[in-house]
Amino acid sequence: MKLRYVAAALLAATALADTAEAGPLDATGQWSVTSRGHAPLPPMGWNSWNAFNSDVDEEKVLAAAKALVDSGLAAKGYVYVNIDDGWWLRRRTSDGRLMIRTARWPSARGKDPAGSFRPWTDKLHAMGLKAGIYSDIGRNSCGQAYTAQFAGQPEGTVEEREVGLYGHIQQDIVLFMGEWNFDMLKVDGCGIRAMSPANPLVASGQYRALGPLIDYETLPNTDIAAVRALYTEVGEAMDRTRPRGDFVYSLCLWGSADVRAWAGKVGNMSRTSEDISPNWERMLHNLDAASRRELYAHPNSWNDPDMLFVGTGAFDMDHLVEARSHMTLWAMLNAPLIIGYDMRKASSALLSVLGNPKVIALNQDAAGNQAVLAYDGETVQILVKSLADGTKAVAVLNRSGIPVDATLTAAHLKYRADSPVALTDLWDGGERAFTGEVPVHLESHQTLLFKASGTREHPGGLYLSEMPGSVNPAVDGVVHPMADPLVHRGLLPWRSTRGDGEHSVYGGWGGARADATPFAQTPKIAGKAYASAIGVLANSRIEVRGNGAATFTAEAGIDDATADTSARVRFSVHADGKRLLQTDWMKRGDAPAMIAVPVKGARIIELVAEGNRAEMQDVPVTWGKAALDR
Ligand code: GLA
Repeated sequence: MKLRYVAAALLAATALADTAEAGPLDATGQWSVTSRGHAPLPPMGWNSWNAFNSDVDEEKVLAAAKALVDSGLAAKGYVYVNIDDGWWLRRRTSDGRLMIRTARWPSARGKDPAGSFRPWTDKLHAMGLKAGIYSDIGRNSCGQAYTAQFAGQPEGTVEEREVGLYGHIQQDIVLFMGEWNFDMLKVDGCGIRAMSPANPLVASGQYRALGPLIDYETLPNTDIAAVRALYTEVGEAMDRTRPRGDFVYSLCLWGSADVRAWAGKVGNMSRTSEDISPNWERMLHNLDAASRRELYAHPNSWNDPDMLFVGTGAFDMDHLVEARSHMTLWAMLNAPLIIGYDMRKASSALLSVLGNPKVIALNQDAAGNQAVLAYDGETVQILVKSLADGTKAVAVLNRSGIPVDATLTAAHLKYRADSPVALTDLWDGGERAFTGEVPVHLESHQTLLFKASGTREHPGGLYLSEMPGSVNPAVDGVVHPMADPLVHRGLLPWRSTRGDGEHSVYGGWGGARADATPFAQTPKIAGKAYASAIGVLANSRIEVRGNGAATFTAEAGIDDATADTSARVRFSVHADGKRLLQTDWMKRGDAPAMIAVPVKGARIIELVAEGNRAEMQDVPVTWGKAALDR
């Protein structure tokens, strides 16, 4: 086997001809995660939906706000107090202004019967909190589409009940973020998903038809560009209204419309799945929809597996093991920590789960790295999160309802097997140490959580898979979004096991991965397996923050998992837009290209894998041992 050594010398920059239009694989020298809004760390707070659904009023929400302050949770970071569905009465047709259900929001009453939330947001701000509100990108809301029997549904004529943003984006955003001064806006998508002409609610004349732009079950039927354009328009209206960028824009598309590919360019957090419910299986479902998207979460744009259900049902205080697991997993995922509990009832046990400062600190760690799956099993999963101080957090999850024994190894942590690894249990404070490996016993549904330190396997720097918050697959090579089969079919309470169940629906299969191929295999080039790698499809461009490193090294090639022996891929590395090297065209089975290039001073390094055909959906490539060294 002939090893291919690529010169580390800097090649002359290839300036694009003035006339040439930049293609998606052309290096930009830019970090393309949005700078809109402000969410350098995952937002934390409370939302009314899980506690009250749309049966929401000022008394309940104010009680939650007060409880956040009085319990000390606000001081620990839980500052957003978000009103979800149910606040609106109707849209006034004379001027299009949204009217508040002031019968339930006394402080919103004023001379204008439409009411104003300004006194409400002023009150929250005076308490040191921030205020969030809810809308929908279509003409109608999720409540109108799916829970019309719930309280707080809009009233009046068809037109008056059109409370969503569609056709009113600029006007409503100025109202929410300007006049009313909210700090966070969640934008749901039911109005462009549910209001098809065939919907009985539409056919019977209760609502106007719209689209649908989203076909939840059948990805190719979704008009991705139209959905993205609408959400972008909202973001731009927010920028105009709040030019200082002091807001959070939360996308709620439940993983549909290929939102994974573009959420990072549009908003600050993005739902990865359908709604969580307070049972163990559904929590796992929401975990699964986010846990393999570790390269799609970055400071200022996070994966959102939905709000916490800690305190309720399978996560109530009679199920502390499950409550801690849920909290641990959301912290490790860098999920926004949004409490969904009636805080008037919060016990000290609940507050100690939600308020564990060490667990919160993981979620709020400055490096912004979502945990990576170091072991991805049906029963046990091991998640490792690299922290800003150079240490790691590791969570060992037992998904099953029976006790299991597992083994945590130094290799899971990318630590050396011949020197001791120190573990501190972040729930009970217990300390232990091991060398090589350690047996761990897990009770049913238990997640053990440790902070770990040891001797790094790769002492010179960081593998890219240890810094997912600084690695952005700006172009991930996915041509036709497909549902992720690893997000298992769940049992929906209203559907039970009728029919053929709930299918995988969240587009995401084939996305870029840390320490795995896009199709969840061990990365391999010409028979050599890589424990540390970035796996991505051909025709991809990955942005990496330079973070002060001196050298980029990798072993690059077509992954052995590709069946397409006619595919050819060439790899290039760029620093701040200038090409440093390009390999020859490579085929499956070729030995990896050994790359080592100086990147000192570079802000953005780009890794491009260019295929010889425009559509190469199924050609995984591997950047083996990809690392930035000091
Ligand atoms: C959707 C969202 C939920 C909640 C409800 C409100 O289902 O996913 O989070 O906002 O709408 O109706």
